[in-house]
Amino acid sequence: MAQQAVIGVTGLGVMGRNLARNFARHGYAVAVHNRTEAKTKALMEEFGHEGDFHPAETPEAFVAALARPRKMVIMVQAGPATDAVIEEFAPLLEPGDILVDGGNAHYLDTRRREAALRERGIHFVGAGISGGEQGALEGPSIMPGGTREAYESLGPILEDIAAKVDGVPCCAYVGPDGAGHFVKMVHNGIEYADMQLIAESYDLLRKGAELAPAEIAEVFRTWNTGRLDSYLIDITAEVLSHTDQATGAPFVDVVLDRAEQKGTGRWTVQTALDLGVPVTGIAEAVFARSISGHADTRAVARELPGPSGAASSFAGDFPDKVEQALYASKVVAYAQGFHQIQAGSAEYGWDIDLGAMATIWRGGCIIRARFLDRIRSAYEADPRAATLLSDANFAAEVGAAQDSWRDVVVAATRTGIPVPGFASALSYYDALRSERLPAALVQGQRDFFGAHTYRRADRDGTYHTHWELPD
Ligand code: ATR
Repeated sequence: MAQQAVIGVTGLGVMGRNLARNFARHGYAVAVHNRTEAKTKALMEEFGHEGDFHPAETPEAFVAALARPRKMVIMVQAGPATDAVIEEFAPLLEPGDILVDGGNAHYLDTRRREAALRERGIHFVGAGISGGEQGALEGPSIMPGGTREAYESLGPILEDIAAKVDGVPCCAYVGPDGAGHFVKMVHNGIEYADMQLIAESYDLLRKGAELAPAEIAEVFRTWNTGRLDSYLIDITAEVLSHTDQATGAPFVDVVLDRAEQKGTGRWTVQTALDLGVPVTGIAEAVFARSISGHADTRAVARELPGPSGAASSFAGDFPDKVEQALYASKVVAYAQGFHQIQAGSAEYGWDIDLGAMATIWRGGCIIRARFLDRIRSAYEADPRAATLLSDANFAAEVGAAQDSWRDVVVAATRTGIPVPGFASALSYYDALRSERLPAALVQGQRDFFGAHTYRRADRDGTYHTHWELPD
């Protein structure tokens, strides 16, 4: 009888199929199954020669093909489909088996599923997988949650198929139950913020400095040789230099300017609100996409008056100033995202290693960037840092960039170019640096209208002022 499979994948859509091929290419015997058998057959016909695949027609045959303790990865749409597949396979598994959900599940669903399967003795691993279809095939960034015990046997296989940077795998144990999917969610939120900041940079260079898309692509290519070196900057240059075949116009000019979203950015912000973490950059990015989609509102508002004052100067070293603004805003966005991971970790007792998260995002995923090495170093220097902005290196860089950052926000505001990402990041930076915030006045207002009380800066205790009485 043929040797049993080391791991299995059920759900052979684009991601599942490529993940299964990635396991096979790394020499693992992999069982493959799909609800509709045609996809299993197609995989075998097209790629069966790539490795030791064990195709299974039924869940029973799939489970029987797996070596104990069984390790199987579910790659179906997040939501009810995941629950349906779990219900189908869990009764076929035995205590000690490992069930991995590699989809984009909400971390609260993962917590619920993990608790239910733990009752049945099954290890449930919610694993965030980033990198899209190419990443799944060639090496994604993997963020697995669940028990340490499960990671001991599953981890080495996942680390093997993950992307590598300087020989280090872009996969590490994140923490119990929903920790992996939580970190993946925040990763996606940061991705939203990063993309928005890049888009604002483009808008400023286009409408402010009046550069053509191809020229802006060159600016981005230059930036990509420096501290902004990243996948997102790289593909931005590609997109901007692309010409539409049908019209010969720059591609970016023929695309409808309404950004869509699948929801992980929204989840990040919703969760941040619940945790009380100010992820203003991610929120502005989600809202910027939302604004872009409100075509009716935009249509009626198109004639609203713009600025009539003196025009700003976008000549000379303006692109360099935008680079500074982009870099500083990006540091803020990542600082906010890591703050959210820190808060989630504290709320759920996950004990997440923040430096390790920066390490596994260096390759494989959409936000992969050289910059993440600096975040890793910052957390190496101080694993419990309250904010990345206080790291000596980041503080110095952002401090040096801030004058240009302010100039860019002023120029954009004067000209009427929306820069919610740049401006909110700058306000966040200034709020953190402020000795006193007007929150003191807000507390006074709350006490006045609702007797909500306030605390004093000069002595302990809770106070309420009898506003109706004369001074
Ligand atoms: P793609 O990645 O190709 O776009 P998808 O629509 O995201 O694919 O679907 C991913 C996988 O989820 C598919 O393999 C799908 O199975 P089918 O090929 O049979 O449609 C699987 N899937 C979705 N809902 C499912 C369910 N309730 N039970 C089992 N598998 C399901």
